[in-house]
Amino acid sequence: MEELDFTGRTVLVVGGSSGIGNGIAQAFRARGAAVHVWGTRPRAEDYAAAEGSDLAGLHYARLDVADAAAIDRYVPPFARLDVLVLAQGIVLYQRGEFKAEGFRRVVEVNLNSLMSCSARFHDMLAAAKGALIIVSSTAAFHATRGNPAYNAAKTGALGLTRTLGQAWAGDGIRVNGIAPGLVATKLTTVTTERPERLAAALQRIPLGRLGTPADMAGAALFLASPLAAYIVGQTIVVDGGLVL
Ligand SMILES: NC(=O)c1ccc[n+]([C@@H]2O[C@H](COP(=O)([O-])OP(=O)(O)OC[C@H]3O[C@@H](n4cnc5c(N)ncnc54)[C@H](OP(=O)(O)O)[C@@H]3O)[C@@H](O)[C@H]2O)c1
Repeated sequence: MEELDFTGRTVLVVGGSSGIGNGIAQAFRARGAAVHVWGTRPRAEDYAAAEGSDLAGLHYARLDVADAAAIDRYVPPFARLDVLVLAQGIVLYQRGEFKAEGFRRVVEVNLNSLMSCSARFHDMLAAAKGALIIVSSTAAFHATRGNPAYNAAKTGALGLTRTLGQAWAGDGIRVNGIAPGLVATKLTTVTTERPERLAAALQRIPLGRLGTPADMAGAALFLASPLAAYIVGQTIVVDGGLVL
Protein backbone atom coordinates (compact mmCIF):
# COMPACT_ATOMS: atom_id res chain seq x y z
CA MET A 1 0.00 0.00 0.00
CA GLU A 2 1.45 3.29 -1.12
CA GLU A 3 0.54 5.14 2.09
CA LEU A 4 2.68 2.70 4.08
CA ASP A 5 5.76 3.14 1.89
CA PHE A 6 8.34 5.14 3.86
CA THR A 7 11.00 5.24 1.16
CA GLY A 8 13.02 8.44 1.45
CA ARG A 9 11.82 9.04 5.03
CA THR A 10 14.01 9.19 8.10
CA VAL A 11 12.81 7.67 11.36
CA LEU A 12 14.33 7.80 14.84
CA VAL A 13 13.16 5.26 17.41
CA VAL A 14 14.32 6.09 20.92
CA GLY A 15 14.34 2.74 22.71
CA GLY A 16 14.70 1.05 19.33
CA SER A 17 17.46 -1.26 20.49
CA SER A 18 15.11 -3.93 21.79
CA GLY A 19 11.55 -5.10 22.31
CA ILE A 20 8.65 -2.98 21.06
CA GLY A 21 10.82 -0.12 19.78
CA ASN A 22 13.02 -2.55 17.89
CA GLY A 23 9.98 -4.14 16.24
CA ILE A 24 8.73 -0.69 15.25
CA ALA A 25 12.17 0.27 13.90
CA GLN A 26 12.41 -2.86 11.77
CA ALA A 27 8.89 -2.32 10.42
CA PHE A 28 9.79 1.16 9.19
CA ARG A 29 13.03 -0.17 7.71
CA ALA A 30 11.14 -2.94 5.88
CA ARG A 31 9.02 -0.22 4.29
CA GLY A 32 11.95 1.75 2.95
CA ALA A 33 12.84 4.21 5.71
CA ALA A 34 16.33 5.06 6.94
CA VAL A 35 16.00 4.16 10.60
CA HIS A 36 18.06 5.35 13.55
CA VAL A 37 17.72 3.82 17.00
CA TRP A 38 18.96 4.72 20.46
CA GLY A 39 19.72 2.39 23.34
CA THR A 40 21.91 2.24 26.44
CA ARG A 41 24.70 -0.16 25.45
CA PRO A 42 27.99 0.97 23.88
CA ARG A 43 27.59 -0.75 20.49
CA ALA A 44 24.97 -2.42 18.30
CA GLU A 45 26.90 -5.70 18.67
CA ASP A 46 26.10 -5.65 22.39
CA TYR A 47 22.48 -6.59 21.63
CA ALA A 48 21.54 -10.23 21.11
CA ALA A 49 18.74 -11.80 19.09
CA ALA A 50 17.90 -13.99 22.09
CA GLU A 51 16.85 -10.84 23.95
CA GLY A 52 14.54 -9.78 21.14
CA SER A 53 16.94 -7.38 19.42
CA ASP A 54 17.62 -7.16 15.69
CA LEU A 55 19.86 -4.23 14.87
CA ALA A 56 20.47 -5.31 11.26
CA GLY A 57 20.16 -2.40 8.89
CA LEU A 58 19.52 0.12 11.70
CA HIS A 59 21.80 3.03 12.62
CA TYR A 60 22.57 2.63 16.31
CA ALA A 61 23.61 5.29 18.81
CA ARG A 62 24.04 5.12 22.57
CA LEU A 63 22.29 7.86 24.48
CA ASP A 64 21.07 7.76 28.06
CA VAL A 65 17.76 9.61 27.94
CA ALA A 66 17.93 10.19 31.69
CA ASP A 67 20.64 12.73 30.79
CA ALA A 68 18.58 15.67 29.50
CA ALA A 69 21.70 17.69 28.71
CA ALA A 70 22.99 14.89 26.48
CA ILE A 71 19.72 14.97 24.52
CA ASP A 72 20.06 18.74 24.06
CA ARG A 73 23.70 18.37 22.97
CA TYR A 74 23.03 15.50 20.56
CA VAL A 75 23.99 16.28 16.98
CA PRO A 76 22.04 13.95 14.67
CA PRO A 77 23.74 12.23 11.74
CA PHE A 78 20.62 12.94 9.64
CA ALA A 79 19.50 16.20 8.06
CA ARG A 80 15.74 15.58 8.16
CA LEU A 81 13.44 13.70 10.48
CA ASP A 82 9.99 12.52 9.41
CA VAL A 83 9.01 10.25 12.28
CA LEU A 84 10.11 10.23 15.92
CA VAL A 85 9.00 7.25 18.00
CA LEU A 86 9.58 7.42 21.76
CA ALA A 87 9.65 3.82 23.03
CA GLN A 88 12.08 4.11 25.92
CA GLY A 89 11.06 2.66 29.22
CA ILE A 90 12.13 0.97 32.43
CA VAL A 91 10.39 -0.57 35.41
CA LEU A 92 11.72 -1.29 38.90
CA TYR A 93 10.61 -4.30 40.89
CA GLN A 94 10.82 -5.25 44.59
CA ARG A 95 9.27 -1.97 45.69
CA GLY A 96 12.10 0.07 44.16
CA GLU A 97 9.59 2.61 42.86
CA PHE A 98 8.33 3.29 46.40
CA LYS A 99 11.69 4.82 47.26
CA ALA A 100 12.35 8.41 46.18
CA GLU A 101 15.42 7.55 44.15
CA GLY A 102 13.69 4.77 42.24
CA PHE A 103 10.57 6.83 41.69
CA ARG A 104 12.57 9.72 40.27
CA ARG A 105 14.65 7.46 38.06
CA VAL A 106 11.60 5.88 36.44
CA VAL A 107 9.83 9.20 35.95
CA GLU A 108 13.02 10.65 34.43
CA VAL A 109 13.36 7.86 31.87
CA ASN A 110 9.67 7.15 31.20
CA LEU A 111 8.20 10.68 31.28
CA ASN A 112 10.64 13.59 31.50
CA SER A 113 12.76 12.23 28.65
CA LEU A 114 9.69 12.19 26.41
CA MET A 115 9.55 15.97 26.64
CA SER A 116 13.31 16.37 26.22
CA CYS A 117 13.36 14.23 23.08
CA SER A 118 10.22 15.85 21.67
CA ALA A 119 11.59 19.34 22.21
CA ARG A 120 14.99 18.42 20.77
CA PHE A 121 13.45 17.28 17.49
CA HIS A 122 10.50 19.70 17.27
CA ASP A 123 12.06 21.87 14.58
CA MET A 124 13.15 18.97 12.38
CA LEU A 125 9.71 17.35 12.64
CA ALA A 126 8.03 20.67 11.85
CA ALA A 127 10.25 21.15 8.80
CA ALA A 128 9.30 17.67 7.53
CA LYS A 129 5.60 17.98 8.52
CA GLY A 130 6.31 14.83 10.46
CA ALA A 131 4.82 12.57 13.09
CA LEU A 132 5.68 12.02 16.74
CA ILE A 133 4.56 8.76 18.37
CA ILE A 134 4.70 8.29 22.12
CA VAL A 135 4.54 4.78 23.59
CA SER A 136 2.65 4.81 26.89
CA SER A 137 0.91 1.73 28.28
CA THR A 138 -2.45 0.29 29.24
CA ALA A 139 -1.05 0.94 32.74
CA ALA A 140 -2.27 4.49 32.12
CA PHE A 141 -5.84 3.18 32.54
CA HIS A 142 -5.61 1.20 35.79
CA ALA A 143 -3.60 0.88 38.99
CA THR A 144 -0.33 -1.09 38.99
CA ARG A 145 0.09 -2.06 42.64
CA GLY A 146 3.87 -2.49 42.80
CA ASN A 147 4.84 0.25 40.35
CA PRO A 148 3.70 3.75 41.31
CA ALA A 149 6.33 5.54 39.21
CA TYR A 150 5.66 3.46 36.11
CA ASN A 151 1.97 4.22 36.45
CA ALA A 152 2.45 7.94 37.07
CA ALA A 153 4.84 8.21 34.13
CA LYS A 154 2.62 6.32 31.70
CA THR A 155 -0.47 8.28 32.73
CA GLY A 156 1.64 11.40 32.23
CA ALA A 157 2.70 10.20 28.79
CA LEU A 158 -0.96 9.97 27.80
CA GLY A 159 -1.58 13.56 28.86
CA LEU A 160 1.60 14.76 27.19
CA THR A 161 0.46 13.13 23.94
CA ARG A 162 -2.82 15.04 24.09
CA THR A 163 -1.24 18.37 24.86
CA LEU A 164 1.63 18.15 22.36
CA GLY A 165 -0.93 16.98 19.82
CA GLN A 166 -2.89 20.16 20.41
CA ALA A 167 0.12 22.46 20.73
CA TRP A 168 2.07 21.27 17.71
CA ALA A 169 -0.68 20.50 15.19
CA GLY A 170 -0.34 24.05 13.93
CA ASP A 171 3.37 23.46 13.37
CA GLY A 172 2.54 20.56 11.07
CA ILE A 173 3.53 17.83 13.55
CA ARG A 174 0.97 15.13 14.29
CA VAL A 175 1.49 13.77 17.79
CA ASN A 176 -0.20 10.50 18.74
CA GLY A 177 0.43 7.56 21.01
CA ILE A 178 0.26 3.81 21.41
CA ALA A 179 -0.73 2.07 24.65
CA PRO A 180 0.52 -1.53 24.47
CA GLY A 181 -0.99 -4.27 26.56
CA LEU A 182 1.29 -7.16 27.51
CA VAL A 183 4.18 -7.88 25.14
CA ALA A 184 6.98 -10.36 25.87
CA THR A 185 10.16 -8.24 26.09
CA LYS A 186 12.99 -7.98 28.56
CA LEU A 187 10.78 -5.55 30.51
CA THR A 188 8.13 -8.19 31.18
CA THR A 189 10.05 -11.42 31.84
CA VAL A 190 8.89 -11.26 35.46
CA THR A 191 5.44 -12.17 34.09
CA THR A 192 6.07 -13.93 30.80
CA GLU A 193 8.73 -16.34 32.05
CA ARG A 194 6.72 -17.54 35.05
CA PRO A 195 4.14 -20.05 33.84
CA GLU A 196 1.53 -19.30 36.51
CA ARG A 197 1.70 -15.54 36.05
CA LEU A 198 1.68 -15.93 32.27
CA ALA A 199 -1.41 -18.15 32.38
CA ALA A 200 -3.20 -15.65 34.65
CA ALA A 201 -2.28 -12.80 32.31
CA LEU A 202 -3.43 -14.68 29.22
CA GLN A 203 -6.79 -15.34 30.84
CA ARG A 204 -7.41 -11.62 31.04
CA ILE A 205 -6.68 -11.03 27.34
CA PRO A 206 -9.77 -11.58 25.13
CA LEU A 207 -7.62 -12.43 22.10
CA GLY A 208 -5.95 -15.13 24.20
CA ARG A 209 -2.36 -14.31 23.35
CA LEU A 210 0.37 -11.83 24.22
CA GLY A 211 0.98 -8.87 21.95
CA THR A 212 4.09 -8.79 19.78
CA PRO A 213 6.36 -5.94 18.74
CA ALA A 214 4.90 -6.44 15.24
CA ASP A 215 1.41 -5.80 16.60
CA MET A 216 2.66 -2.48 18.01
CA ALA A 217 4.43 -1.68 14.75
CA GLY A 218 1.14 -1.95 12.86
CA ALA A 219 -0.28 0.91 14.90
CA ALA A 220 2.93 2.95 14.61
CA LEU A 221 3.05 2.62 10.81
CA PHE A 222 -0.59 3.66 10.60
CA LEU A 223 -0.16 6.67 12.89
CA ALA A 224 2.91 7.85 10.97
CA SER A 225 1.22 7.43 7.58
CA PRO A 226 -1.16 9.65 5.60
CA LEU A 227 -3.90 7.14 6.55
CA ALA A 228 -3.88 8.89 9.94
CA ALA A 229 -3.67 12.41 8.49
CA TYR A 230 -6.61 13.70 10.57
CA ILE A 231 -5.74 11.98 13.87
CA VAL A 232 -4.11 14.17 16.52
CA GLY A 233 -3.42 13.71 20.22
CA GLN A 234 -4.90 10.22 20.41
CA THR A 235 -3.43 7.18 22.10
CA ILE A 236 -4.45 3.92 20.44
CA VAL A 237 -4.82 1.00 22.83
CA VAL A 238 -3.19 -2.09 21.29
CA ASP A 239 -3.83 -4.77 23.88
CA GLY A 240 -5.87 -7.67 22.48
CA GLY A 241 -8.78 -6.39 24.53
CA LEU A 242 -7.01 -6.49 27.92
CA VAL A 243 -8.49 -3.26 29.31
CA LEU A 244 -12.00 -3.96 28.09
N1 LIG B 1 6.35 -4.97 27.08
C1 LIG B 1 5.15 -4.59 27.48
O1 LIG B 1 4.29 -5.42 27.84
C2 LIG B 1 4.81 -3.14 27.49
C3 LIG B 1 3.49 -2.78 27.79
C4 LIG B 1 3.13 -1.45 27.79
C5 LIG B 1 4.07 -0.49 27.49
N2 LIG B 1 5.35 -0.85 27.23
C6 LIG B 1 6.29 0.23 26.91
O2 LIG B 1 6.90 -0.02 25.67
C7 LIG B 1 8.16 0.62 25.63
C8 LIG B 1 9.21 -0.38 25.20
O3 LIG B 1 9.37 -1.37 26.23
P1 LIG B 1 9.72 -2.89 25.91
O4 LIG B 1 8.71 -3.71 26.58
O5 LIG B 1 10.00 -3.04 24.50
O6 LIG B 1 11.05 -3.07 26.80
P2 LIG B 1 12.58 -3.19 26.36
O7 LIG B 1 12.76 -4.29 25.39
O8 LIG B 1 13.34 -3.22 27.63
O9 LIG B 1 12.85 -1.82 25.60
C9 LIG B 1 13.04 -0.62 26.31
C10 LIG B 1 13.87 0.29 25.46
O10 LIG B 1 14.15 1.51 26.19
C11 LIG B 1 15.56 1.71 26.22
N3 LIG B 1 15.97 2.44 27.41
C12 LIG B 1 15.74 2.11 28.70
N4 LIG B 1 16.32 3.02 29.50
C13 LIG B 1 16.94 3.91 28.69
C14 LIG B 1 17.74 5.06 28.93
N5 LIG B 1 18.02 5.51 30.16
N6 LIG B 1 18.23 5.72 27.84
C15 LIG B 1 17.96 5.30 26.59
N7 LIG B 1 17.22 4.23 26.31
C16 LIG B 1 16.72 3.54 27.36
C17 LIG B 1 16.13 0.30 26.19
O11 LIG B 1 17.50 0.32 25.85
P3 LIG B 1 18.37 -1.03 26.13
O12 LIG B 1 17.92 -2.02 25.13
O13 LIG B 1 19.77 -0.60 25.95
O14 LIG B 1 18.05 -1.45 27.54
C18 LIG B 1 15.24 -0.32 25.13
O15 LIG B 1 15.62 0.08 23.85
C19 LIG B 1 8.38 1.18 27.04
O16 LIG B 1 8.01 2.54 27.06
C20 LIG B 1 7.44 0.36 27.87
O17 LIG B 1 7.07 1.03 29.06
C21 LIG B 1 5.74 -2.14 27.23
